[in-house]
Amino acid sequence: MNIILLGAPGAGKGTQAEVICDRLNIPTISTGNIIREALKTGTEMGLKAKSFMEAGQLVPDEVVIGIIKERLAKDDCQNGFILDGFPRTIPQAEALDKMGIEINKVIDIEVSDEAIMKRMSGRRVCEKCGASYHVEYKRPAKDGVCDSCAGALVQRKDDHPDTVKARLEVYHNETEPLKDYYDRQGKLSVVEGQDTVESTTALILKAIEA
Ligand code: AP5
Repeated sequence: MNIILLGAPGAGKGTQAEVICDRLNIPTISTGNIIREALKTGTEMGLKAKSFMEAGQLVPDEVVIGIIKERLAKDDCQNGFILDGFPRTIPQAEALDKMGIEINKVIDIEVSDEAIMKRMSGRRVCEKCGASYHVEYKRPAKDGVCDSCAGALVQRKDDHPDTVKARLEVYHNETEPLKDYYDRQGKLSVVEGQDTVESTTALILKAIEA
């Protein structure tokens, strides 16, 4: 099954993608993670993306479309995949359609801007493996230390309140129109993000199976 997770920054796409990919045994493709990795290793693409990402703006369409094209051609995507963070603009969705890849389900996770501001200020990520935690909702066993690899937990540069506000504005202007785009294709399911990760997962799995 080929699935797209839509939603505002911090709606819980990454958290849910992690759970669902385990359940369905298909890979998650997160453009945010791919770009952050490129930034860390200092590739040309990473350097190009850096200023956009840190300002909370979208990386140019042609860059992310190239990343996705290359990633979806890999063998592990043949039995399905979850897209987390792509598409984020109408031209990106049109590019995906042109690749001839059939999308089966688009799950939109709805969370209010107010709740998102609260979630993002508490998010911590492992600087080594990228795993995501929350100081209140998803605490590691030992404060400040990643459960999986013992790396240090830090705040993402783009999780500072002013940048989150900018990301939300970009989301409402550029990404939210995708709800209509996929609704018209009969593929959209809207899930209200719940206060716990587990209850949101239950609603998403129900929507996927419907
Ligand atoms: P990206 O990494 O994709 O960021 P994002 O979409 O802004 O999403 P986040 O990763 O911030 O949030 P999420 O929805 O995954 O939430 P999470 O599960 O972590 O992109 C970063 C940047 O890269 C972009 O700004 C852009 O510059 C660039 N980029 C990426 N893709 C691009 C594209 N296609 N085109 C152009 N540019 C692109 O959850 C957030 C927090 O809440 C966590 O701490 C989590 O533990 C907690 N939480 C999750 N669910 C719950 C719950 N139900 N209850 C309570 N807490 C919860």
